[in-house]
Parts: sequence; C-alpha cells; structure tokens
Amino acid sequence: NPGPDYQAEDATLSQASVAANHAGFTGSGFVDYVNVAGGYVEWTVTAATAGAHNLTLRYANGTTANRPLAVAVNGVTVNRDFPGTGAWSTWADVTLTATLNAGANTVRATATAATGGPNLDKLTVGPATGGGSFVV
Ligand code: GCU
Repeated sequence: NPGPDYQAEDATLSQASVAANHAGFTGSGFVDYVNVAGGYVEWTVTAATAGAHNLTLRYANGTTANRPLAVAVNGVTVNRDFPGTGAWSTWADVTLTATLNAGANTVRATATAATGGPNLDKLTVGPATGGGSFVV
C-alpha cells in the first residue's frame, strides 16, 4: 500500500459491504456496515518505525445517533464515538493515537451497536501529534 491512506473498500470485511451511493468518498467507494453489532473492517497497516502514530478514520453518519466502533490495534481495543455528520454524503474525521509495531499491524474497526457502524471511507496513518488517546 503506497502512502498513508488505506481505503476501506480494500480492507477485509465482515457483515459490511462496499458501496458508492453517497458522494464525497475517496478511492472507488466506501464501506457500509450491516445494521447489526459485530460487523468489522480490518486493515493490515505497515509502519516504518515502531511507536505512536495517528490513525484517522474518515466516516459519514447520516443519522443523529452515535454509531460507535471498537477499534482494535494489534488486539488492543479502544471505543470511539462516530456522531452524526448531517448527511451520508458529509464526511468527517475521528483520530486516535496508537502504538504501532515496525512492519505489519492489524487494525480492526468493529461496530458495537445494533445500528451497525458509520459508513467508512478510509484509514489514514500518520505521525503522532499527541492529541489522541493512547491505545497501548
Ligand atoms: C442508509 C444509507 C446507507 C447507510 C444506512 C445505515 O441506508 O443509504 O449508506 O449505511 O442508511 O443506516 O447504516
């Protein structure tokens, strides 16, 4: 994967599918979770160096209710809220900070509410800015 962006539509999916019916996504589409708890999007992320990195999830939530996700980085989980963005075509970022290993890392974003997750466009991995919450 060249560059810092990992498209959701290229990830491993469970109880979620690729869609393109709402504008504003990057890449070739986005992922639409089934409206159940337990669906996930899982990426393998490569880090050049071990240590803290920002993980930014670009999402849309056209409802007024939170669509929480449990984000597991190498099996260590943090829960994050994904509040309404006003429309399914309006995208926003949620950033957390996690410690990555040099080389391959597994990032899995699992829907924890019966409504399922938000629509996910991509995961971006970047330098830690210290503004997020440490997962490990
Ligand atoms: C609508 C919308 C989908 C969204 C879904 C949901 O069907 O078109 O993109 O995923 O609501 O509630 O999750």
